[in-house]
Amino acid sequence: MTLRITNLGKHYGEAPVFENVTLGVEPGEFVAIVGESGVGKSTLLNCMAGLDSWDQGTVTHDGTDIGALGGEACALWRRRHVGFVFQAFHVLPHLDVAQNVALPLMLLGRQNEEGRVAKMLDAVGLPGMGARLPQTLSGGQLQRVAIARALVHRPALLLADEPTGNLDPSTAAKVMDLLIGQTREHGASLVLVTHSESAAARADRLLHLTAGGIRA
Ligand SMILES: Nc1ncnc2c1ncn2[C@@H]1O[C@H](COP(=O)(O)OP(=O)(O)OP(=O)(O)O)[C@@H](O)[C@H]1O
Ligand SMILES: [Mg+2]
Repeated sequence: MTLRITNLGKHYGEAPVFENVTLGVEPGEFVAIVGESGVGKSTLLNCMAGLDSWDQGTVTHDGTDIGALGGEACALWRRRHVGFVFQAFHVLPHLDVAQNVALPLMLLGRQNEEGRVAKMLDAVGLPGMGARLPQTLSGGQLQRVAIARALVHRPALLLADEPTGNLDPSTAAKVMDLLIGQTREHGASLVLVTHSESAAARADRLLHLTAGGIRA
């Protein structure tokens, strides 16, 4: 998916979060975004998915103007095309691990094709843990459930907010392999927000977000 952000600006009241953010991400491309805590990285990622609003500029995906879609149309679009790894995971507490991972497929009315949920759990290093409830998992395990859920429906746009923040270096590298594999094998666009230098080093392009804009 081709993502284009043009002159994006957002503020809370008088306080600007960011201004003049312009960037493009092509299919199969992996872009990493770094910047200080509070500079607006999570907010920008939310805008890319139409999960937050902005005050200036446009966000388009394959020419579709996300800001012009209504709430419901945007939700349907997001369901089909976006995989989002939230900084705070947002794993649903009353669903077991397998149900959490299967959620995107279920919302699209698709079956657990070829045992894809179990394959995703294997891929993130949680084999056989599908029946566990989130409250019985560690922080790093929850993070990997969130990653499996973002990938299970093979979305064209992957937005990952600090997806390795709770992982040891070896598990983090495997998770990065998985995210990058999705972009290379399926031509997905990957936008990664991270404080991890080793994760950022694997990107095709590294961008720095500041209050005044985004630059290489
Ligand atoms: N609802 C809100 N009302 C007012 N300010 C907000 C609101 N939500 C976020 N902010 C502010 O917007 C700024 C950007 O927040 P954001 O979470 O995008 O930062 P971030 O770059 O992801 O930080 P971190 O690296 O710590 O995750 C912060 O200064 C935050 O305090
Ligand atoms: Mg953040």
